[in-house]
Amino acid sequence: MMFLSLLISYLMGSVSFSYLIAKKLAGIDIRTQGSGNAGATNTLRVLGRGPAIAVLVLDALKGLAAMGLTFWLTDGNPLAYALAGLFAIIGHNWPVFFGFRGGKGIATTVGVALGFSPLAFLISGIITILIIAITRYVSLGSLVLVTILPIFLLVLGKEPAFIGVSAVLAVFGYIRHWSNIRNLLSGKERKLGESEQRTL
Ligand code: G3P
Repeated sequence: MMFLSLLISYLMGSVSFSYLIAKKLAGIDIRTQGSGNAGATNTLRVLGRGPAIAVLVLDALKGLAAMGLTFWLTDGNPLAYALAGLFAIIGHNWPVFFGFRGGKGIATTVGVALGFSPLAFLISGIITILIIAITRYVSLGSLVLVTILPIFLLVLGKEPAFIGVSAVLAVFGYIRHWSNIRNLLSGKERKLGESEQRTL
């Protein structure tokens, strides 16, 4: 049952809401616009606040839903529950329905964080929002989020599976934000609110 639930989690994660919403609203492939990322930040850049909030919420909910379904299918197995979050993010980042070209996994990580610990979700979420509000760099906030989440889960004494998976999510986050890290270091990273197109 665990294998089946992880497969379902991957397929649920593979539903790229930024791709679908951008296609529906503007007839565009979000991956050819702005930063080229299929995610909430790039949706904000290209389509504005409403669609971006929809993407953020739906991408987060799909992670949480995959975990909830797995919890039910595996009679509350904590390892399967944690791995369901991981597989939803693998689906989001490398979606089978969209040529394996997806997003950076942060909105879905937000949903998974809520599933791991509402308190860790709240504290890390507030810190992330503060960093984004102060620096205007969403990517920097995202990197801080994936870094502090496993630390908070450890401090709060959560399940080892939750801590382990969130550490893997941190590695994913760094890998997927590699171009953002390079841009941050060279001062080329686009700030929130800057909407000019960058050549891909
Ligand atoms: O979650 C993605 C965000 O951290 C960066 O997105 O489009 O600026 O590369 P983007």
